[in-house]
Amino acid sequence: MKVLAINGSARKDGNTSILIHYVLGELRKQGIDTETLTLAGKKIHGCRACYKCFENKDNRCSMNDDLLNECLGKMIEADGMILGSPTYFTDVSPEMKALIDRAGFVARANGDLFKHKPGAAVIAVRRAGSIHAFDTINHFFLITQMVVPGSCYWNMGIGGREKGDVEKDEEGIRTMKVLGENMGWLLKKIRD
Ligand SMILES: Cc1cc2nc3c(=O)[nH]c(=O)nc-3n(C[C@H](O)[C@H](O)[C@H](O)COP(=O)(O)O)c2cc1C
Repeated sequence: MKVLAINGSARKDGNTSILIHYVLGELRKQGIDTETLTLAGKKIHGCRACYKCFENKDNRCSMNDDLLNECLGKMIEADGMILGSPTYFTDVSPEMKALIDRAGFVARANGDLFKHKPGAAVIAVRRAGSIHAFDTINHFFLITQMVVPGSCYWNMGIGGREKGDVEKDEEGIRTMKVLGENMGWLLKKIRD
């Protein structure tokens, strides 16, 4: 079993990465394989609304000049996924939104490719807007017929502007660990 984490932060090894790391650590303790893809510095365009995915039905986006189809292939293959994002102006990063729009359309155009896979959002925030970003990712999971595990709080880590600040948010770290435990539990139940 494998969980794919996609980090939508514009910077590598920042707070989103730290939070994802705690969730994946718990999954690995349960014998679940993990892989992380980071969108920082990579090209990923927004959807251009060509609707070719609904004509081609080949599990791919018609735009082939960026990272999306590689991400999509890994999302299709994975048993579960974590989508992580920092909060930017009370929402997800533009890279994460591009992934949601395009992967979501391709999944729906091809018979709900992510149906019944567990999916969890992970959000880094300095001060405000994390719930809105969390909701954006959960809307994607729910309309693609995925299953969303909970934690002991909503899945956010509160920190400052600097990389690593989120380590000081003890409750946030605990929330990530419980999320990892619950996601592992759910994955095994689905597989049973
Ligand atoms: C363009 C931009 C917009 C941001 N907007 C918000 C915001 O609306 N609310 C907030 O609390 N923090 C905001 N932040 C701060 C980040 O969410 C926060 O520092 C987060 O920990 C960064 O995660 P990272 O280290 O993974 O990049 C913003 C940062 C940037 C670069």
